[in-house]
Amino acid sequence: MVSDSWKAAFLAASATLLQSAVAQNVTCNGSFSPISASNFVSKMNPGWNLGNTLDAVQKEGDWNNPPVVATTFDDIKSAGFKGVRLPVTWAYHFTSEAPDYTVDPVWLQRVSDVIDMITSRGFYAIVNVHHDSWTWMDLTKETDYAKIEDKFYKLWYQIGTKLACKGSQVAFEPINEIPGTTAEHGAEVNKLNNIFLKAINDAGGFNPQRVVTLVGSGEDGPKTSQWFVKPDAKFKNPWAIQYHYYSPYDFIFSAWGKTTWGSDADKASLEADIAAVRGNFTDIPLIIGEWAASPVATETAARWRYFDFFIRTAAKYNTATVLWDNGADFLNRATHQWRDQVALDILRTAAAGKTNSLPDSTTDGSTTQNSSAYVYHKLNETVTDVELPFHFNGNSFSSAKLAGKNLAKGKDYSVSGEKITFKKSFLSTILTSSSRTGSLANVTLNFSAGASLQVNILQWSVPTLGVTSSKVPASSTDLLIPITWAGQNRPAAVRAVKNDGTYLSDDWTQYLPDLQKARITYNGQWNWDGQNVVLPAAVVDLVRQGGKDTTFTIEFYPRVPGNVVNYTLTV
Ligand SMILES: *[C@@H]1O[C@H](CO)[C@@H](O)[C@H](O)[C@H]1NC(C)=O
Ligand SMILES: *[C@@H]1O[C@H](CO)[C@@H](O)[C@H](O)[C@H]1NC(C)=O
Ligand SMILES: *[C@@H]1O[C@H](CO)[C@@H](O)[C@H](O)[C@H]1NC(C)=O
Ligand SMILES: *[C@@H]1O[C@H](CO)[C@@H](O)[C@H](O)[C@H]1NC(C)=O
Ligand SMILES: *[C@@H]1O[C@H](CO)[C@@H](O)[C@H](O)[C@H]1NC(C)=O
Ligand SMILES: *[C@@H]1O[C@H](CO)[C@@H](O)[C@H](O)[C@H]1NC(C)=O
Ligand SMILES: *[C@@H]1O[C@H](CO)[C@@H](O)[C@H](O)[C@H]1NC(C)=O
Ligand SMILES: *[C@@H]1O[C@H](CO)[C@@H](O)[C@H](O)[C@H]1NC(C)=O
Repeated sequence: MVSDSWKAAFLAASATLLQSAVAQNVTCNGSFSPISASNFVSKMNPGWNLGNTLDAVQKEGDWNNPPVVATTFDDIKSAGFKGVRLPVTWAYHFTSEAPDYTVDPVWLQRVSDVIDMITSRGFYAIVNVHHDSWTWMDLTKETDYAKIEDKFYKLWYQIGTKLACKGSQVAFEPINEIPGTTAEHGAEVNKLNNIFLKAINDAGGFNPQRVVTLVGSGEDGPKTSQWFVKPDAKFKNPWAIQYHYYSPYDFIFSAWGKTTWGSDADKASLEADIAAVRGNFTDIPLIIGEWAASPVATETAARWRYFDFFIRTAAKYNTATVLWDNGADFLNRATHQWRDQVALDILRTAAAGKTNSLPDSTTDGSTTQNSSAYVYHKLNETVTDVELPFHFNGNSFSSAKLAGKNLAKGKDYSVSGEKITFKKSFLSTILTSSSRTGSLANVTLNFSAGASLQVNILQWSVPTLGVTSSKVPASSTDLLIPITWAGQNRPAAVRAVKNDGTYLSDDWTQYLPDLQKARITYNGQWNWDGQNVVLPAAVVDLVRQGGKDTTFTIEFYPRVPGNVVNYTLTV
């Protein structure tokens, strides 16, 4: 039996520990079923991010997504996800500054309602403070740490109060990708983890038992490994570490012509990264709260191979994963369609421990790039048999279907070893030498286990530019070059070379393989829309500053000789 004097001593000791602690504010009705952090992350695996939505700057609806509707979470549920990370930007929802830093109650209610949409569908959820790390919480730009700490405490106290009575399927994450480049920044993040814990514990309710996913600088694996320090033991919250993984940068973000992935070296380096974080935190539950290889930026076969290997490797190191989806990448929320259903199927089956068969594809950045995710046929060429290599990975091939109907093995296609040959007679029912360009059909390949694959039968021709040269604009401006697409409606890579043969930027790419030399970076240095290839102001400025006529060679899929157009900017 616990005596009253012991209780008094215990309370006094706790009060000292939680210096300046307010009494726990909220008392919840109902009950809370405690869950360990390792159970939590495994139950939310695999997870999905509601990206670019409640985290939009400045308000929900301001970016590419309208305000979220509950049916989106039905789509996520049907796709097989178990958890949802809910990124929330608070920076533009304060109604007062110091000393109160009051958060708009309407916004708190909105966040609470969206959490209910998620948890009522049986998901586990992580809610956070998101792009505040771009503004008032940027430790590399703001110098008044005391102010950041005060505001951060008050913000989490209010969030903690509002969400205090949410069930144990709701976890909190203190701050998304807070910038940090030094050990001092890392130490400040450790301090912020503790301030966050104190704030939610002070708010009370069920928070003292709630799972949290703590962070290191940038939610970067190596920086977290280097600088993360465990939180103060006085906080009893079950905790995991969350980090993010977008590697290798060049493949994930389509930089420097890196449109291939899947070599032994690519795989070894991914595995070493995941293993290193696990190696530093052997007994701590880990969750990769963001990762992706978007259909917007990556080649299809390479992406499927990445999805499979990434998910299996994370599982091997007992690390849960949460896919980043900005609303333009994976789920088309308006139509409820997945933009790359195969990638989703690979994710789900790999997470369930099944073996996936995968398309073969070039992995070495040599002079052409093959991909067994496609039958690429060039306009005006005769239709022939097409042989595509696969990696069955121990599964057996079971069927090929077109629009739900089985194709005839032997007649429409044949299988030899791990190669599937689509017959000329079959392909001729789908395309002729003069069919329109673009995707004409998808054949579904089914195997004894794992995800079904698709082979996209695609007619292509070299796209044409509306204009092929212009004088560099005198002022800093984006340049829109009209294009008529003719196959896959996007560039694969862009090469930029000055008329003296030197590279416009990133001279070091001369040491890369042929498909990568002199290539510039997607987003920063090239982009596109439905009607144009876009050269952003930054790259136009480089040409003006470089003072030399510069040819941009825009390359398309398939990356074979000749599937390029040139655009020259003259000075
Ligand atoms: C305590 O919690 C209630 C909601 O349960 C909230 O309205 C109130 O503002 C909180 N008090 C403080 C001091 O934060
Ligand atoms: C608990 O229930 C009481 C009585 O129904 C209600 O007044 C109070 O607001 C509830 N508290 C919380 C935190 O929901
Ligand atoms: C810890 O992380 C660092 C940085 O990523 C890495 O170099 C090191 O190998 C890791 N340690 C272990 C034991 O995995
Ligand atoms: C890759 O493509 C090249 C030319 O585009 C071709 O010669 C080669 O046979 C292809 N390899 C495979 C494995 O498909
Ligand atoms: C394809 O053939 C047609 C008819 O011969 C011709 O007009 C057209 O220019 C050709 N297109 C290409 C891209 O070769
Ligand atoms: C084939 O699948 C791709 C990817 O899902 C899609 O973009 C394309 O429109 C499909 N093609 C046809 C003819 O349905
Ligand atoms: C794929 O084939 C397997 C047997 O090999 C079968 O069990 C499964 O239902 C098939 N899946 C589809 C989508 O046809
Ligand atoms: C594009 O320009 C490069 C020089 O940068 C040249 O070598 C190449 O032949 C040109 N290609 C086409 C299709 O005009």
